[in-house]
Amino acid sequence: MTMPARVHLIAAARPNFMKVAPLWHALSAAPDFTPVLIHTGQHYDANMSDAIFADLRLPAPDHHLGVGSGSHAEQTGRVMIAYEGVALADRPDWLIVVGDVNSTAACALVGTKLGVPTVHLEAGLRSRDRAMPEELNRLVTDVLADVLWTPSPDADANLLAEGIPPARITRVGNIMMDAFELSRPAILAADQPGVLGLIPGGYGLVTLHRPSNVDDPEQLARLVAALIEVQARLPLLFPVHPRTAGRLAASGLTERLERAGVRLVEPASYIRFMSLVMHAAAVITDSGGIQEETTYLGVPCLTLRENTERPITIAQGTSRLVRAETLADTLNAALEEPRSGRRRPDLWDGKTADRCLADLRERSARPKRI
Ligand code: UD1
Repeated sequence: MTMPARVHLIAAARPNFMKVAPLWHALSAAPDFTPVLIHTGQHYDANMSDAIFADLRLPAPDHHLGVGSGSHAEQTGRVMIAYEGVALADRPDWLIVVGDVNSTAACALVGTKLGVPTVHLEAGLRSRDRAMPEELNRLVTDVLADVLWTPSPDADANLLAEGIPPARITRVGNIMMDAFELSRPAILAADQPGVLGLIPGGYGLVTLHRPSNVDDPEQLARLVAALIEVQARLPLLFPVHPRTAGRLAASGLTERLERAGVRLVEPASYIRFMSLVMHAAAVITDSGGIQEETTYLGVPCLTLRENTERPITIAQGTSRLVRAETLADTLNAALEEPRSGRRRPDLWDGKTADRCLADLRERSARPKRI
């Protein structure tokens, strides 16, 4: 009998956990794979990590690298040094990295240099904005990885245009929908609007954390003014990311938002947050993943960015790019539009993890380096 293949799964930051969880559950249930869960520690607050692990029914990681915060080079370097030790000691058959955070690129570099067949889940997304750290992480990871699992046809086209051999690419769909479907009963039961005294369909949900929005005090002040304008029409709930909390406090903007009636709360765990998304009149965000989740759920999404690496959420979904100056008017238009007529992109169906396992099995039967 052959031994189950050992698969390293890298979890680092909040948006990774809902991509890793469906894979971990599928690999755990399969007799021919053994998942090894590695948390780099890029996110470490209880709200940003432990609570989400619990919601997604992920166990404590097999390895915790404890890298914490730092400059990009410090964080990336610390992950590389720590993960190299684990990979050398454990010699996995596969390494899977997800998304576009610093730990994703760091582990891809370590794994491929050690000759570990390396897979990137959520490959091929491009904003074409090199000022975004995530875009650089995506470029590095995709050029290195042996296998590129993509969520949508635009991602395949981006990779092919960059000269990636087609044999490396498998379109598996969007894994975030698997996480949602795995948690659907708990999300429906959570009734977070009820818990917080909000009227379903009668509030807007806000998240902001991109450096381009929150690190520049002038841009942050413009956004705060726009949110206050919206609050006059639609009550807003704003779970605040730690980076943003620091910037708002430093600019004295926390009180301005609170005086205007915007409700600032701690970051919500996955189930509570998705319950809030499901029942929101609209979501205002600069997140990548939330553009996809709102598209899946048919909730209008106002994306406070100049560009997106997820154009399918605009072409087929509910997302629109907005600026501080256009937020209130665009929101009014979005609220008046009927919600029908949108469709879910192909393979955003809750079955992506199964397609990932099928691809791993097929590729395991071939020579390792592609
Ligand atoms: C990271 C990812 C980003 C992702 C985001 C989701 C990169 C380059 N960025 O950005 O792609 O969308 O996660 O949240 O990898 N902090 C805490 N507690 C935590 C984590 C962070 O207090 O658990 C604070 C620290 O002050 C830290 C700052 O937030 O310096 C930023 O954290 P960091 O992980 O560097 O980047 P994010 O902005 O979270």
